[in-house]
Amino acid sequence: MLTAARNDMLTRVGPGTPMGELLRRYWHPIGGASQLDETPIKTIRLMCEDLVLYKDLSGTYGLVDRHCPHRRADLSYGWVEEQGIRCNYHGWKMNEHGKVIEQAWEDTNNPSGRGRENCDTKAYPVKECAGLLWAYMGPLPAPELPVWEAFKYENGWREVVLADIPCNWLQCQENSCDPVHFEWMHDNWGARLKGGDSNVAPKHLKVVFEDYDYGLIYRRVRENQPDNSKYWTVGRVALWPNGFYLGHHFEWRVPVDDENTLSVAWFFMRVPKGREPYVQKQVPTWISPIKDENGRWISSHVINQDIVAWVGQGVIADRTKENLRSSDIGISMMRQQFLNDMEAVAQGRDPKAVFRDPEAAKCVMLPDMYRTINTQGLTIEEIRKDRILGQRLDEFRHHVGQPPEVRQAFVDAMGL
Ligand code: FES
Ligand SMILES: [Fe+2]
Repeated sequence: MLTAARNDMLTRVGPGTPMGELLRRYWHPIGGASQLDETPIKTIRLMCEDLVLYKDLSGTYGLVDRHCPHRRADLSYGWVEEQGIRCNYHGWKMNEHGKVIEQAWEDTNNPSGRGRENCDTKAYPVKECAGLLWAYMGPLPAPELPVWEAFKYENGWREVVLADIPCNWLQCQENSCDPVHFEWMHDNWGARLKGGDSNVAPKHLKVVFEDYDYGLIYRRVRENQPDNSKYWTVGRVALWPNGFYLGHHFEWRVPVDDENTLSVAWFFMRVPKGREPYVQKQVPTWISPIKDENGRWISSHVINQDIVAWVGQGVIADRTKENLRSSDIGISMMRQQFLNDMEAVAQGRDPKAVFRDPEAAKCVMLPDMYRTINTQGLTIEEIRKDRILGQRLDEFRHHVGQPPEVRQAFVDAMGL
């Protein structure tokens, strides 16, 4: 249980708030790079700031204030040129650093150049990595973008799935350190949704949570689980500050504002043995719906089930009314680490898992239950026998709504 003040402190993300300042010390995935191939300008709200994300004709990404620095017109109605984004109202043009690089009337009629002084607009750095676009919204110099080892795995199919979640980001992230929900939400409830009527999922017998350089690891033992199971020997990572790594995919919960979250999931699946070398030309990005035609949350797919839990906790979960127990130790550890990190930022120090050394950030290993499979591969028959990968051969079970062309490209990659 938390006080209302603590709950506010942990959940609110606007500029100047303690958590907003903390989260601004990290790079966040904000969408798929392929989204800007279709339309080069996209509106985006991140941590209570309204922005436009664009890719200019030279291929440079920019993330700037949605409102033009001249008289505040909406830049999402502008257009991109060889360099920068141009406002449709009076033609000012801005670059990715927020500099005004053309000022149509002034340049013609008052060309001293002084018209461009003191009118820089807000701009944040953007990088592309693994088919994702990443933004950094904190003080400069920006830290290094950690390149997780999985981003470098070869011979694999990747896809990015986004979902707009109408609740606060923290309750989504607390789910990254909550092993017991797999037994109930995904197994027992999942079985009921398919007509089952008993609670027969293997019980959790043991869970441990460990502090780790890049987050928190949890390991678990369930009934019928062999002693050498990687769920116990390797575990999974609640990635700092708002991610989750499960060995075959990442999930991030990116705050849009205090009451909305962008769910970003990145999936990897190595092609079967014999189909290498495989090089994917473009990482597809698609948006998963979360409500059905009756306005109820969709519950048919795994992450959609998680979303039912997150939104069900309220727009901002009221942690003054909860009752944490021993299965929730990881959640308490996560909150405490956030409180420590907010204090570190207030004192001018880097919080946990900020990378300053380019060498260290180049290829960062994480506990990975699937490392051998991801790096050495399986035959198609072996893939079929793996509970999670085998399912993916038949259908995409994580998010509802995979477009048919993405499924087809996956089928082609796997040689099904
Ligand atoms: S408001 Fe954008 S150029 Fe005038
Ligand atoms: Fe889940």
